[in-house]
Amino acid sequence: MKSHRREFIKKTALGTAGLTIGGMGLSAASYRRIVGANDTVVFAAVGVNSRGLANIQAVLGCRGTAISHICDVDSRATGKSIEEVSKINGSKPAGITDIRKLLENKSLDAITVATPDHWHAHMAIMAVQAGKHVYLEKPSSHNIAENEILVKVYRQTGKLIQMGNQQRSAPTSIEAIERIIKGDIGRPYFGKAWYANRRGPIGVGKIIPVPDWLDWDLWQGPAPRTDYRDNIVHYNWHWFWRWGTGELLNNATHEVDICRWALGVDYPDKVSAMGGRLHFKDDDWEFCDTQVVNYQYGDDKLITWEGKSCNGMKEYNMDRGALIQGTEGSFVLHRNGYEMYDLAGKLIENKEETGKSETTGTRGSGSLDVLHMYNFLEGIRNGTRLNAPVDDGAVSVNLCHLGNISQRLGRMLTIDTSTGKIIKDNEAKALMHRVYEDGWELSG
Ligand SMILES: NC(=O)c1ccc[n+]([C@@H]2O[C@H](COP(=O)([O-])OP(=O)(O)OC[C@H]3O[C@@H](n4cnc5c(N)ncnc54)[C@H](O)[C@@H]3O)[C@@H](O)[C@H]2O)c1
Repeated sequence: MKSHRREFIKKTALGTAGLTIGGMGLSAASYRRIVGANDTVVFAAVGVNSRGLANIQAVLGCRGTAISHICDVDSRATGKSIEEVSKINGSKPAGITDIRKLLENKSLDAITVATPDHWHAHMAIMAVQAGKHVYLEKPSSHNIAENEILVKVYRQTGKLIQMGNQQRSAPTSIEAIERIIKGDIGRPYFGKAWYANRRGPIGVGKIIPVPDWLDWDLWQGPAPRTDYRDNIVHYNWHWFWRWGTGELLNNATHEVDICRWALGVDYPDKVSAMGGRLHFKDDDWEFCDTQVVNYQYGDDKLITWEGKSCNGMKEYNMDRGALIQGTEGSFVLHRNGYEMYDLAGKLIENKEETGKSETTGTRGSGSLDVLHMYNFLEGIRNGTRLNAPVDDGAVSVNLCHLGNISQRLGRMLTIDTSTGKIIKDNEAKALMHRVYEDGWELSG
């Protein structure tokens, strides 16, 4: 276990100083007026069906930005996003299908990536190697080995990669964590994160012809080729190993990250996951829909995540959040603020984010996106420290990958706390990698 409290305080102080925005919860148009800028940062948005659209709104919600290209393998998504940009600022970005061609463009400064997970590390690596900065949606990778290469290349190129765990830029979360570090709840030792949704079954896919609006080969990219089926594109790929990473990487990536941040820890010595496809049966979904994952940090700290994909029962009246318990009280942190409780569980204080962010639904959007994008832009323009640089984000993503590996093998993993590597278990180590389509292997 590694505590990086001093480093954290430095980060947080700088992060807060970068946030000069008042009046959160404003429309994208209002943000554009209040966020200051020096030079125009030219973006391309890559992967724009759903989350990518929220990223477009966040980019254009900050002054001094332009979107020159929309890159997607679904021509309908491209068209929809070009229209969205026109609606916001009257410009008409060019549509492009292949990111490799896009990255040849010299006038591009940065890209946003909101494609399926199997593309994330490849795209981010190609982009920084082409000299672009990257706003990369979580999870940073499809597996642990990709994170290792991604972080190495990130550090080599000196280009920025901000991971899309936007709560890292929430002023109330930053404040709550400062208070936790200051000792407002004594010594923090337990983080409990949770997520609840009401996802339906995805059925059993039928092989059908590839729709004419889709470049299926490029959609698959690094993943081994397979027939097109009618229950994959869009979104349902999340529940297939070939492309997705399950609810753990889809959503624990956010709140496990908050727990890690609050407790000031990186890698635990033990990881165990249990759960299953317990709610629905007989469909193609390959991950758990109900799962509990535990991260044990010696005899000092514990993080646990409870994921319920198909039952919307809330905890603390919230579908997602993180409870941090200490020797003198507790904090509950979420996207819209925090609450502080005493040891008896009595509410002492609460604070709401001025702006609102969506917590239910699958897209996410709102003021935190703009703040997070603004921090990324400040990093590009002024060297401001990122609130979620990918080398830190990758640690939280790896915790979730480790949970998936433990779940697949049905046993607890022992981890080297200084490197995050699995100790001894060769079968588990093999699951840190994936098989690629020929020619798409990653090296760094
Ligand atoms: N930070 C958040 O709150 C948040 C919220 C939602 C989703 N996400 C993340 O964003 C990512 C996208 O999620 P989504 O719900 O928008 O998925 P989606 O399936 O709806 O959209 C993905 C888009 O990427 C496109 N795409 C696929 N391959 C491509 C390629 N080679 N080049 C360009 N575009 C390509 C698809 O055609 C599609 O338009 C996921 O990794 C997800 O985890 C983050």
